[in-house]
Amino acid sequence: MNHPIVAITGASGSCYGIRLLEVLISQGLEPYAVVSPAGRQVMAVELGSGDLKDHLGAAGYREEDVRDLASPLASGSFPTSGMVIIPCSTGTLGSVAHGISSNLIHRAAEVSLKERRPLIVVPRETPLSQITLQNMLALAQAGVHVVPASPGFYHAPKEIGDLVDFVVGRVLDLMKIPHQLSKRWTGLPSFDAPFTLSQSKGEPLAQDDRCDRD
Ligand SMILES: Cc1cc2nc3c(=O)[nH]c(=O)nc-3n(C[C@H](O)[C@H](O)[C@H](O)COP(=O)(O)O)c2cc1C
Repeated sequence: MNHPIVAITGASGSCYGIRLLEVLISQGLEPYAVVSPAGRQVMAVELGSGDLKDHLGAAGYREEDVRDLASPLASGSFPTSGMVIIPCSTGTLGSVAHGISSNLIHRAAEVSLKERRPLIVVPRETPLSQITLQNMLALAQAGVHVVPASPGFYHAPKEIGDLVDFVVGRVLDLMKIPHQLSKRWTGLPSFDAPFTLSQSKGEPLAQDDRCDRD
């Protein structure tokens, strides 16, 4: 993906969008970035500033104004290699699912869909309403990758950054961009002893806690 679009909206988890941009910039892919007003607000709450430059500097990417519907990103005639909305609020998810293009993020997503370019959304909300679930289904049926911001724990994360990298790594996989952000699952380690509930707490094996691995 060259010149991918990365949109940051007002769901919690601005760090996911910043980390994705960081990786794309480091690989020289010159992404376009768009941040919604709510995205800036949440970024300021979570990371201390709602200004991308404070997190990424000014080089290696281009930021477009979310209000600018005359931006090149608003037209299918302008080539981009796809778009990621990360994090994606339920509001933006609903707008994209229903073709309501009232800002540049919605419009660029609509363009990605109509031009059949890759579109990935990373929603963060819990619990999920029936409406949001239906919107997710509509997007998935339209060919969108819906990638909930729900990191796994099987790679033994030690820091918050490990959890962020897990999610961003899955997005990069879908973008077909090579990375080494997190360890890949290569199967279970072999056990000599049966796996037990007690072992996970480092306590001696109690007979009642035994459970077979299979
Ligand atoms: C601190 C904070 C955290 C929020 N977290 C979420 C969230 O996790 N998911 C979500 O869908 N909306 C969340 N919201 C609400 C959205 O920001 C709000 O619905 C906004 O209108 C989304 O606009 P946007 O899609 O244009 O960015 C949060 C708002 C604030 C202020």
